[in-house]
Amino acid sequence: MKQDLLTLKDLTKEQFDALFARALELKKRKKEGIVDRPLEGKTVGLLFNKPSTRTRISFEAATIQLGGVSIFMNENDTQIGRSEPVKDTARVLARYIDCLVIRTFSQELIEEYASYSDVPVVNALTDMYHPCQILSDLMTVIEDKGSYDAKVAWVGDGNNVAHSWMWAASTLGFELSIACPEGFDPNDAILKEALARGAKITVVRDPKEAVAGADIIYTDVWASMGQEAEQAAREKSFEGFIVDDALMALAKPDASFMHCLPAHRGEEVSESVMEGDQSIIWDQAENKLHMHKAILDMLISRTL
Ligand code: CP
Ligand code: NVA
Repeated sequence: MKQDLLTLKDLTKEQFDALFARALELKKRKKEGIVDRPLEGKTVGLLFNKPSTRTRISFEAATIQLGGVSIFMNENDTQIGRSEPVKDTARVLARYIDCLVIRTFSQELIEEYASYSDVPVVNALTDMYHPCQILSDLMTVIEDKGSYDAKVAWVGDGNNVAHSWMWAASTLGFELSIACPEGFDPNDAILKEALARGAKITVVRDPKEAVAGADIIYTDVWASMGQEAEQAAREKSFEGFIVDDALMALAKPDASFMHCLPAHRGEEVSESVMEGDQSIIWDQAENKLHMHKAILDMLISRTL
């Protein structure tokens, strides 16, 4: 049976740990100059219907560095833009490629692709989730703090990235404190189910409360892709939610700052925090490459 990676909800702790171990191993071997080519003869398709710098390039670079070939597609260059049904496209693509990485709006759409595809489908961001992001972020937390047994404070919108953090917290048991303005809470059904699974998640209104005692302070844009028209209104709603030096000072003294990027300096984060000593955003961005290698390798070789 092929396995997909559509949400972190269904990943076991053992699968999380296996991905972290493989990604850390691949990173170490690359730094030592060792070339691994487990994707020799394999083809990875990327179907992206939203912009991307990090996720697209790191998945393509990961494929190529592991000896495979990547093919980038978007809706308008294919017959998808002319209404060819998903169930037809998915079955055709699966006859050509070994894995399909999709970035799109609807989580249901990606699930439909997965249900018709004979090859693994990977979620490279939907409106609901960004699972690969949190896998590489947790790898960064492990490197930075020694383990993922840390307190993570999420400051900002209860969005796709926050939802993936919540499923990870529900399986791995770390503390997650989410501060968001009223009206921008994470999805209630996800919160309820994560809590029912024993997750240590709190949702608060005051960023100061969320960051107290935190090891990791994490934020993301206030208006995600597809919400551009709400930018001005959201800037008002999120007043007071900037991660600046004053907020960082309320966390643990050795706390680190993370952001999935791209960032809006002066909105959700100050220039000084982005560029400051506590920021680990460049390691975080780099780890997308290593984690995407682990994901592709383990899904294609069916060892996850
Ligand atoms: N963090 C992230 O997913 O960045 P991109 O939108 O550039 O891929
Ligand atoms: N929440 C952001 C993440 C970008 C990587 C978005 O969906 O646009």
